[in-house]
Formats: sequence, C-alpha cells, structure tokens
Amino acid sequence: MGLLDGKVTIVTGGGRGLGRSHCLALAGHGAAVVVNDPGAGLHGESTDQTPAEAVAAEITAAGGRAIPDHSSVTDWAASQKLIALAAAEFGRLDVVVNNAGILRDRMLFSMTEDDFDAVIAVHLKGTFAMTRHACAYWREEAKRGAGRGGRIINTTSGTGLFGTVGQANYGAAKAGIVSLTTITALEMARYGVTANAISPIALTRMTAGVPGVAARNPVPDGPKPERFDPQDPANASGLVVYLASDAASWLTGQVFRVHGDRVQRLRGWRSVGEYRSRAGRAVQPEELVTGLPEVYGTAPAGRLPDPAAHGA
Ligand SMILES: NC(=O)c1ccc[n+]([C@@H]2O[C@H](COP(=O)([O-])OP(=O)(O)OC[C@H]3O[C@@H](n4cnc5c(N)ncnc54)[C@H](O)[C@@H]3O)[C@@H](O)[C@H]2O)c1
Repeated sequence: MGLLDGKVTIVTGGGRGLGRSHCLALAGHGAAVVVNDPGAGLHGESTDQTPAEAVAAEITAAGGRAIPDHSSVTDWAASQKLIALAAAEFGRLDVVVNNAGILRDRMLFSMTEDDFDAVIAVHLKGTFAMTRHACAYWREEAKRGAGRGGRIINTTSGTGLFGTVGQANYGAAKAGIVSLTTITALEMARYGVTANAISPIALTRMTAGVPGVAARNPVPDGPKPERFDPQDPANASGLVVYLASDAASWLTGQVFRVHGDRVQRLRGWRSVGEYRSRAGRAVQPEELVTGLPEVYGTAPAGRLPDPAAHGA
C-alpha cells in the first residue's frame, strides 16, 4: 500500500529539477501524475516537449500511471483544461503541486517591465490560475455530494521569505505565493482542501549559477553520489508526498523550509513590539522620534544593522 494509492496529482514544471523529483516520488507512492511542463528555457525564452515526456515515460516504465502535458501555467484557459484533463484521464483530481518557475534576475533599477511581468506570470499568476481552477473543481465536487477534499502544495523560496539582492520580481512573486497559500487555506477549509507552501533548496539548473551551490555538486541532473547529497532535489519530495496524503488533512496554511535532511516549520508576520500614543489618540510623528527607537531597542542611541547584511 502506498501513501497515495488512487490519488491523482498534477505537478507544474514537472519535467525538470524539483518538479521531476516530486513527480517520481508521487508516482512511487501510488499516485497518478500529470507531468505538466512546456520545457521552458530558464528565462522562459523557449519551449521543449521532451522533459515532460521523459518524466511521464520514466514513471510508466516503472509501472506507474502518468501523462505529459505541455501547456503553460501562464495560459488561463490552458490551466483550466489541465484540471479537466486530469479528471478526464484518471477520473478525479486530488493534488496540485504548483512548482513551475523561471528566473529573470537583475538589480531593480535595470529590471525591465517584461522581466517583471514574465516572472510574476509564471510564479504568481500561474499558481493562482491552477489554484483557482482546481478549487472551483473541488467546490463543484462538494456541491454534488462527491467531495473528497484536495491539496494545494505551493512553492515559495528563501527570496520570497527573506529577500535576495537582484531578485525583486522573483521575490515579490514568491512572497505573493505565501499570501495566496494563506487565503486558499482559509477559503477552502470548508471543502476539505488544504493549502501549504514549501521553500526548497536544491541544486537544479535554477541554482547552478548561484555561487557556492554548484561548487558542491557540479552535475545537476547527472549521476547521484553514493553518499547522502544535501543538494539533491529529491530531498524536498518526501514533504510533498506527505502534504499530498490523507495523513496531512489536519495541516493547512503553513510554510515549510526543506533542505537536505530537515524540514523546518516557519512562522510569518507577528507583532514583536509596539509604540502606543501616551495621549490615547492617533500617534503623532513627533512622538515617533523617540517612540520607534524605543520599540527597536536602539534608544537612547545606536542604529539598526545594515539591512544589506541580512542576505537569504
Ligand atoms: N532550486 C532551488 O534551490 C529552489 C529554491 C527555492 C525555490 N525553488 C522553486 O522551485 C521550483 C522549481 O525550480 P527548479 O529549481 O526545479 O528549477 P528548474 O528550472 O529545474 O525547473 C523549473 C521547471 O518549470 C518549468 N516551467 C517554466 N515555465 C513554465 C510554465 N509557464 N508552465 C509550466 N512549467 C513551466 C520549466 O520548464 C522547468 O522544467 C520553482 O518554483 C523555483 O522557484 C527552487
């Protein structure tokens, strides 16, 4: 018995890197998989049907159930068709893993409108499009008395959570995905649909150019070392399988950092101090001259550390 026997899943960007690992792991635990991937270039500049086809073929060769799909998550109508395709092909839909991604890194003063729009379109709008159509499907199922709940598993990143120089477009999209996850969890709880986000770290073509990452393992899609490889994309897929399973029905609206041999629970914005007007009215700017340094613990003198020193 697999943890996901009988489940039907879609993985966007499933043809390479982390998405490929998620597809293999989901199938390995009994799920049918729609491997969605238009085979986009790293910057979204080209397409290639072979990655999705190769992953689907690898799964079927191992005795699993999988089909490739080459649509782009930036295409609203195609995303809707993709949800329908999974249900038509395998009889139902249980899980959507929103993983597709591209990069267009630049300092923000050099970033073009197209660099910004393209990254937002794949990550944020693509995650929204798939989530929106899947949630409409699960709501319809519930309304006709056939609801079995569902799972949304989104992909954020350290850049979206902590910030990275040169990734204003990507970080804005990834932070938006966290908010989208929270709201999906709130709105869909009544239908038994959970929504969680993972923040993975792995050596893929996306990180091969990051200083220090490639140096530790120069072959992203090559043979794996025999000893445990902390940069292996497959390290993130155990969490994805768990979140997709019935065992995780209690867990929603959460963000996890997954790296190497560990899964971390993250917690988001919360108040850690406040200044309150001593006059019991709206805070006046003059009060903040001393009020905010007190809140930050820098009064009577001192300054906050340089924000540029807080890299992700
Ligand atoms: N690798 C890391 O360390 C890391 C860290 C944090 C977050 N992530 C996120 O993990 C996800 C996977 O990244 P990866 O590192 O495996 O990169 P990758 O480039 O190896 O894989 C991304 C896949 O997404 C596909 N894709 C691109 N545009 C698409 C579109 N419009 N529709 C459908 N698929 C599309 C690509 O064709 C590619 O196969 C991304 O969302 C990325 O931002 C990765």
